Amino acid sequence: MTADEMKKQAAYAALEHIDTNGIVGVGTGSTVNHFIDALATIKHKIEGAVSSSIVSTQRLEAHGIQVFDLNSVGQIAIYVDGADESNHNLQLIKGGGGALTREKIIAAASDKFVCIADESKLVDILGTFPLPVEVVPMARSYVAREIVKMGGQPVYREGFITDNSNVILDVHGLEIMEPITLEKELNNIVGVVSNGLFAMRPADVLLLGSESGTKTVYAK
Ligand code: A5P
Repeated sequence: MTADEMKKQAAYAALEHIDTNGIVGVGTGSTVNHFIDALATIKHKIEGAVSSSIVSTQRLEAHGIQVFDLNSVGQIAIYVDGADESNHNLQLIKGGGGALTREKIIAAASDKFVCIADESKLVDILGTFPLPVEVVPMARSYVAREIVKMGGQPVYREGFITDNSNVILDVHGLEIMEPITLEKELNNIVGVVSNGLFAMRPADVLLLGSESGTKTVYAK
C-alpha cells in the first residue's frame, strides 16, 4: 500500500466524525484533497464548509460544496486536516503546504480537530520535518537571525507566497522537546505571523492510515 493510499484511507475514515447539517472546517494538502473528495459523497448531508486555503476552496466548490467565510459561521463543530508530523500527544507540525495560518485559525475556532495522515507521520519527537514559520516579507531577515539565536536553521522558501501575501521560513535542525514553549517563543518574534507548531491547540483525534487499516489515536 502506498502512502497516498494510506492517506486516502484515513480521509474516508474521517467521514464517520462528521455531524449532519453542520459546517465542516477543511484543511489543506494531499490528504485533505482525498477528504474533500470523500466529503462530496455526503454533501447533501452537510450545510457547507469553511476552507483554510484558496486551493481547498477551489476543490470544494468544484464538488458543489458551499464555502462560507469563518466570520459568518462562528464556532465550528469539527475541523479535518492533515499534518507533516504528529507526536503521541497529537501536537503537530503543519504548514508543508504553506497554509498554516488559516489552518491554525480554523483549528482554534473548532470544537473538535480530527487529524488525518498516513502512519509515517507519527513520531516520538517533533522536528525532523522542517518547521514552517509564516513571516511578513519585510521582517524575513530579522526573523531568520532571531531563529538562528534560538538554535534553528531557517531556510527561505523561495518563490512561495502564502494566501495572506507573506513568506515562509522552514526551520531545520530543531529537536522539539517542549512544543508549547517553542510555539509561544516563535509567536513572540516581531514579524512572525504564525508558526506550524500546533501544540497549544493539538488535534483531538488522529486517524492514521496503515497496511492493517485505519488506526485511531488519542492523546496520551
Ligand atoms: C498544509 O499547509 C499543511 O499543513 C498540510 O496539512 C500538511 O503539510 C500535510 O500535507 P499532506 O496531507 O500533503 O501530507
